[in-house]
Amino acid sequence: MEQYAIKGGNPLVGEVEIGGAKNAALAILAASIMTDETVVIENVPDVRDTNVMMQAMESIGAVIERIDRHTVKISGKSIRDIAIEDDYIKKIRASYYLLGALLGKHGKAQVALPGGCNIGLRPIDQHIKGFRALGADVRIEHGLIIAEAGQHLRGGHIYMDVVTVGATIDVMLAASMANGITIIENAAKEPHVVDVANFLNSMGACVRGAGTDVIRIKGVNKLHGTEYAIIPDQIEAGTFMFAAAVTKGDVTVKNIIPKHLESISAKLIEIGCEVEESDDAVRVVASKPLTHTHVKTLPYPGFPTDMQPQITVALGLSRGTSIVTESIFENRFKYVDELTKMGASIKVEGNTAIIDGVSKYTGAGISAPDLRAGAALVMAGLAAEGTTIIDDIKFIERGYEDFHIKLQGLGAQVEKINSERELQKFRLKTG
Ligand code: EPZ
Repeated sequence: MEQYAIKGGNPLVGEVEIGGAKNAALAILAASIMTDETVVIENVPDVRDTNVMMQAMESIGAVIERIDRHTVKISGKSIRDIAIEDDYIKKIRASYYLLGALLGKHGKAQVALPGGCNIGLRPIDQHIKGFRALGADVRIEHGLIIAEAGQHLRGGHIYMDVVTVGATIDVMLAASMANGITIIENAAKEPHVVDVANFLNSMGACVRGAGTDVIRIKGVNKLHGTEYAIIPDQIEAGTFMFAAAVTKGDVTVKNIIPKHLESISAKLIEIGCEVEESDDAVRVVASKPLTHTHVKTLPYPGFPTDMQPQITVALGLSRGTSIVTESIFENRFKYVDELTKMGASIKVEGNTAIIDGVSKYTGAGISAPDLRAGAALVMAGLAAEGTTIIDDIKFIERGYEDFHIKLQGLGAQVEKINSERELQKFRLKTG
């Protein structure tokens, strides 16, 4: 089993390039099969979730050619099958985007129901409500979501009961090819919602208002081929910014959109870091001791739930008592037990973590419970005294490309190991 071995204590220093946004890529890849023409997508991160998504698309007949590591050419012309049941797809929540894409293009779709996951229950009632408002019959049978619309979907008016990225994007996909106008109210405003809308528009769709809480979509009969580059990953960038903070480092995070990082930069400044923005980069310098703060996760432009474990790791090393409230997912503090093994002093009550800052973490053997928590535990290991071994790094590889290699580029002592022998070698090398 692969693990990360980390010898902590080195401040991260240098520059790191951020890749394309995983969560935008997942939806854009699915949307690319809504045209019979060829689509070229650039800046696709080479991570497990995007690769699983492409395998699922191939399983129903899409032709996908990898032009280079981050560029793919996709043709959905030969898709005949609208049923996706393969085992892989059950492993990624974003399989629901294939439902919206197939329903919009073919008027019907069957996709294996995505289960709950380590961060919470993750219902899909708002996706279903949205498809029904577009005239589809939606039912769940034998572990599949089956959506059928006869010939064509028709435009509809949907008020989302909660702000949801997934349902907003899914309904946007389906509505792009419905007859008439669809209005989505209380829509999610995340950067990747806007990116998916821009992608659809580049294929000839008519989506207006993405990035506000009302999205208006005028359905079109046909979408055409396009070439499109995915936006940089807000969360990968934020993770490296916080990694600079916890290791008392000086890191320039390049190839980003600073506007997308405002809530993250604001919190870093509040806890005592210096943050310098330029056009497409942000530099984080942590030269002073970190100090406590309070934070509540919220839909964009609030502080992202996908950055909650990373800020908690930083606050665990900050002077004073901090409070972190998770308002999006109910089970996103699982990693706190692991962090406690490293010396953190954190008490979780319901959706709130009360954190008493400690002066240091100490290395331990721990497991990554999910993607973002896994990345946060790597950060804790980098800040800790001694050696940390992290299991279950497959979760981290779902969403971070070359994570340990990018960290090595900043001076981190981290390696992927696969045996006791490799661990011994790592220990010898790092002293
Ligand atoms: C997306 O999940 C991301 N995943 C998540 O990224 C991210 O944490 C989340 O948005 C919030 O930003 C992908 O894009 C693939 P939601 P999603 O629908 O779309 C409730 C990561 O680490 N809800 O915005 O599934 C839901 O329970 C991850 O990259 C309903 O009640 O999240 C939650 O409380 C993990 N009914 C809230 O809405 C629904 O039908 C927001 O969920 C849908 C959601």
